[in-house]
Amino acid sequence: MKKNNILNTKNNDFSSIKLPLQSLSRTCFGRVGGQDKSFVSWKPGTMIYPLPAVMISCGETEEEYNILTVSWVGTICTNPPMCYISVRPERHSYEIIKRTGEFVINLTNEELAYAIDWCGVKSGKNVNKFMEMKLTPVKGEMVNAPLIKESPLCIECRVKEIIPLGSHDMFISEVINVQADTRYIDQKSDTFDLEKAKLIAYSHGHYHKLGEEIGRFGWTVRKKKL
Ligand SMILES: Cc1cc2nc3c(=O)[nH]c(=O)nc-3n(C[C@H](O)[C@H](O)[C@H](O)COP(=O)(O)O)c2cc1C
Repeated sequence: MKKNNILNTKNNDFSSIKLPLQSLSRTCFGRVGGQDKSFVSWKPGTMIYPLPAVMISCGETEEEYNILTVSWVGTICTNPPMCYISVRPERHSYEIIKRTGEFVINLTNEELAYAIDWCGVKSGKNVNKFMEMKLTPVKGEMVNAPLIKESPLCIECRVKEIIPLGSHDMFISEVINVQADTRYIDQKSDTFDLEKAKLIAYSHGHYHKLGEEIGRFGWTVRKKKL
């Protein structure tokens, strides 16, 4: 395999990539835990995982409503609450989001796994994804875009800036409303229980259930109760 085939980011940036290790340089760092520790140099690429795989819903009218699966998504500011999604201009959803300036980030759980993948390989140019996946559009409260009723948490966003980066354009957006499925709200603490929602993660071409909890924010410094 030629070196420039190692990481073909043209169209398969969301599927796993096999490495031809023999063609890459290795650096040995001695021994760790009784074993040789070495790193292998790899062509620069997008290797930050795990990530969410969210469903972005958009469109002003029922005829236009569409869903696009996105992993290039993240939080960028707490106050004001802001996030981004990066979308390729050739996506059917791209023009819709650019024109309306609004969209919804729908978090995804195990029940939605099939729809997540399907909405990420089919284009709204040719199919009505809400109908095909039997998902229910609900008019956004603050935005001109539908929520997906089956999602545990829907984040209504308004685009502030579009930054062209290369393959993708980054939509820097403000969160203007959040709608949470009341089934996952803990009545006692009035908090959203993400664990009950059974959210999923996406890592290097694979979808995963979340595993066991191994700690909580600040547990390393919290004083033990006597
Ligand atoms: C797990 C997964 C993650 C994806 N992440 C992105 C992304 O971050 N940005 C993007 O432009 N496309 C992403 N895609 C591809 C689009 O979802 C896909 O091209 C979709 O068919 C576009 O739909 P549309 O043409 O109806 O807008 C992803 C696909 C999958 C399966």
